[in-house]
Amino acid sequence: MELVVARNRAELVKARGEGPIALVPTMGALHEGHRALIREARALAARVVVSVFVNPLQFGPSEDLSRYPRTLEADLDACRAEGVAVVFTPAAEDMYAADRQVGVSAGHMGTIVEGTARPGHFDGVLTVVLKLFNLVQPDLACFGQKDAQQLAVIRRMVADLDLPIGIVGVPTVREPDGLAMSSRNRFLSAQDRERALALSRALSAGAVEATPSRVVAVAREVLGAAGLDPDYLTLVDPATFEAVPEAYKGEAVLAVAARVGRTRLIDNALIRL
Ligand code: PAF
Repeated sequence: MELVVARNRAELVKARGEGPIALVPTMGALHEGHRALIREARALAARVVVSVFVNPLQFGPSEDLSRYPRTLEADLDACRAEGVAVVFTPAAEDMYAADRQVGVSAGHMGTIVEGTARPGHFDGVLTVVLKLFNLVQPDLACFGQKDAQQLAVIRRMVADLDLPIGIVGVPTVREPDGLAMSSRNRFLSAQDRERALALSRALSAGAVEATPSRVVAVAREVLGAAGLDPDYLTLVDPATFEAVPEAYKGEAVLAVAARVGRTRLIDNALIRL
């Protein structure tokens, strides 16, 4: 199947085609984690549409929008190799009218955990994801478990707004040494990359503990030993992202964010108590 590159909304409408469609929304700089999303999408639907759009709405004023890696030619090669039907890569002016007024609110869920450090981030994510859903009209969409809170707020939007789209969560892809794949890893110096391994090590060390307080305490020790002071390290309900009580039994997400050098990384582990 020849890859069609749709550079604006009109081209997308012509290219998106018929049949079960799976959407993989991305901001480009595709790595093995994205390729796992595309493979899952291909296994589930006849046509896969990948969006490559660095969404300005989800970056705060002091965040890395201008520094975010843009590697479109390599992204198109990866999509060709994975049998993607359409790559939708609009300009920001094509996605957002200059006088735009209305967006999606992530509600309370958008203000906790990652939302505390990044006010408005999840509103920006949901606004672009809803626009992509409306433009592509997919039957299902794949998102990485790496961004566990993003996955949770998207599931919540789909439920609360009755969107007829299946949401598929795909497990985090890691480097052989445990570092979660991320487009931002390329900013780590060799020394910072080594320190960044403490994130996945902390999650693995915490995951085998029996109570929420022990899970968090043990993970915090590992981070501290590597000299990392997390923005947050918390054990939460996977659906609501509220911290779980001490007596909690069931699935929980151990979520962490920390700055390593100049790069802020997030990671998480799904654990069972
Ligand atoms: O996960 C991402 O890359 C982005 O947040 C998404 C879902 C493509 C929305 O811009």
